[in-house]
Amino acid sequence: MIDSPGNYMTISEVKQKYYKKIDLLDLELIISRVIKKPREFVLTHPEFKLITNYELRITNYIDRRLKGEPLAYIFGEKEFYGLNFKVNKNTLIPRPETELMVDETIKQLTINNEQLTIIDIGTGSGCIIISLAKQLANYKFIATDISRTALRVARQNAKIHKVNKRIKFLNGNLLKPVLNNKKLIIDNCKLIIVSNLPYLTPAQIKNSSSIQCEPKLALNAGKDGLKYYRQLFKQIKLLVTGYQLSVTALIEIDPQQTAKLKKIIKNNFPKAKIKIKKDLRGLNRLVIIQL
Ligand SMILES: C[S@@+](CC[C@H](N)C(=O)[O-])C[C@H]1O[C@@H](n2cnc3c(N)ncnc32)[C@H](O)[C@@H]1O
Repeated sequence: MIDSPGNYMTISEVKQKYYKKIDLLDLELIISRVIKKPREFVLTHPEFKLITNYELRITNYIDRRLKGEPLAYIFGEKEFYGLNFKVNKNTLIPRPETELMVDETIKQLTINNEQLTIIDIGTGSGCIIISLAKQLANYKFIATDISRTALRVARQNAKIHKVNKRIKFLNGNLLKPVLNNKKLIIDNCKLIIVSNLPYLTPAQIKNSSSIQCEPKLALNAGKDGLKYYRQLFKQIKLLVTGYQLSVTALIEIDPQQTAKLKKIIKNNFPKAKIKIKKDLRGLNRLVIIQL
């Protein structure tokens, strides 16, 4: 480490030292984060001197990245739908493909849907429900998660984005906290359920090195990856039959699950209208179920 003033390493020297070990984009993002300047600055100011404190932090972040920790956990945040969300090892890192769910949910709303509740099942960092609450002023919002530690992060994010008074966060299994307290929705005739539940199999998780740091509780959904959606449909059925609610559910899937999932939906809801939406890579990603 270089301590004497004037002898500090420059951005260019740090890049030279590490570029063979770490992805260049990651390295630039790390430098940008530590010196609190945009990446463009890192690119255009190779001569900028990094004081010792900066260099120590950069090396620490590089070490963590080399051990496989995602940048989002190192920085403690991730951007989703134009907002920054706090994340930690108890929450899934929000994925860009999930933004499709926010867009499609907004498209479901018409001026007639004033008596409407939107429920996010498996909220994690809260990225979906908070993005929706930021876009939509009128409706009632509920979010559940089985993980209390994830809910803590979601509540924190709701506060940061000033929607904490408009979203009820509940701990429990899928829709159970709502089924146990029907007062939450009984006044409403329309319900929108949004959900990005775990949908990977243990084999898929084992074979994907990039997700090893994320909570298994947010990823693993049993042998065919559909364990939670099966349970959720049973709970939605209880809600629909008991209360004659009009329900639209938007769920994120693994593209390979499309055919099997459609069958499960039809078994539970023979009259359901099903639409499949593709993500930016052209893969089936979102199922919209109208009951
Ligand atoms: C794939 S992550 C999605 C998180 C967030 N919605 C997002 O899109 O980034 C799934 C979330 O579901 C939660 N979860 C897992 N099993 C659950 C259950 N039985 N009931 C409620 N939430 C559950 C996990 O804790 C995790 O936060």
